[in-house]
Amino acid sequence: MAGIPHDHYEPKTGVEKWLHERLPVVSILYDTLMIPTPKNLNWMWIWGIVLAFCLALQLATGIVLAMHYTPHTSMAFDSVEHIMRDVNGGWALRYLHANGASLFFFAVYLHIFRSLYYGSYKAPREVTWIVGMLIYLVMMATGFLGYVLPWGQMSFWGATVITGFFGAIPGIGETIQTWLLGGPAVDNATLNRFFSLHYLLPFVLAGLVIVHIWAFHTTGNNNPSGVEVRRGSKAGAEKDTLPFWPYFVVKDLFALGVVLTIFFAITYFMPNYLGHPDNYTEANPLVTPAHIVPEWYYLPFYAILRAFTSDVWAVQLVNLVTGGIVDAKFFGVIAMFASIIVMVFVPWLDTSTVRSGKYRPSFKWWFWLLAVDFVVLTWCGSQPAEGMVPVISLIGASYWFGYFLVVLPLLGVFEKPLPVPATIEEDFDAHYPPKDASASAAE
Ligand code: HEM
Repeated sequence: MAGIPHDHYEPKTGVEKWLHERLPVVSILYDTLMIPTPKNLNWMWIWGIVLAFCLALQLATGIVLAMHYTPHTSMAFDSVEHIMRDVNGGWALRYLHANGASLFFFAVYLHIFRSLYYGSYKAPREVTWIVGMLIYLVMMATGFLGYVLPWGQMSFWGATVITGFFGAIPGIGETIQTWLLGGPAVDNATLNRFFSLHYLLPFVLAGLVIVHIWAFHTTGNNNPSGVEVRRGSKAGAEKDTLPFWPYFVVKDLFALGVVLTIFFAITYFMPNYLGHPDNYTEANPLVTPAHIVPEWYYLPFYAILRAFTSDVWAVQLVNLVTGGIVDAKFFGVIAMFASIIVMVFVPWLDTSTVRSGKYRPSFKWWFWLLAVDFVVLTWCGSQPAEGMVPVISLIGASYWFGYFLVVLPLLGVFEKPLPVPATIEEDFDAHYPPKDASASAAE
């Protein structure tokens, strides 16, 4: 694909030329910073920078926490209390790290839903999207592993329940579960390997983020209109874009400042609001908590997992057809993983020729219903599976799959889209009329 035409870095001084011929690092940094960016990007394009900040924050705080933490079942809980009470600023480090994980997921969900609304996953940005999904999966794994480390009641029982899912796989499940845990149950071997992997995965994330950025720098950013930058002409491209520095750097930093003000207020004034009180009790394999719940960011998928009980006809049918191999538990596990995997295929499931949801009158309704569905599923996941909760979860889970597998493919065929602006410049001017045009309109 032809890149967006713009000026590239030219080494001027002797030293610059010397380095450039040996390692063009300045050139790469310059081109990254000055990349032509669609000038109509709205505030939903700030979450990428918030995510990059979160990754840096988690790495920085995590590395220092690891200096004081002990990955042993007899000392882990106490070492975390030691961090909270004795280590200088240790409480701040821990609260920043725990709440930083929440901000990370909050930002990633907005980033994903932004992409779903504006069709950012569509060609030619499929690779950016797929790498994004990989990032999301690694984030989920990292968060889960980290939550086990303080060795509280929820750490222990959460790990027991989640690794139990693998045990539900017919035939080989138990072997996989034992291999994951390093023994027959969650114990010291589990804590050790979880600590090791929790330290490793953020660096894998950092590598994936570089590939993610590389991918969308290759295609150029999407934008709210979904119209591509005019690549064919330098003059057209210049009218559609602005260099990332200083325009978007300043905008992103301002937005980051606002987000962090709220983040620090929560971290310092209500640091345990999103946590679970049971995790301030040391892990005890002999006492099961009344209600085991994962962290809030896993709840929608946890609700999907629990939605498929043995009362559901689809589960009964699959159970019958597979001769009892797929029981309700295994069905739920498949549904949970499938609800994430299905998103990987969205670039091909969405058949519409129009990219941005702004110009898709029916799509908008279905999209917002999906957003509400996500919130409802989050709520369902937080509740005990009693009364109406399993029914609501089942409806929510069905809509989740229905949106991706039925609604998106059909909408592209039946929906009549609205007229799309011819260029990004036209979309921009519609919001911010050029000075001379607004002056003549006022006269
Ligand atoms: C550590 C996590 C991540 C980081 C640091 C990150 C960073 C970024 C940045 C800086 C951008 C460009 C500007 C913006 O949209 O804010 C971007 C774009 C994009 N991201 Fe991510 N991202 C992450 C995770 C994800 C995930 C989980 C997905 C979805 C599965 C995703 C999908 C996309 C898509 C489709 C675009 C293209 C939109 C466009 O071109 O404007 N990203 N990402």
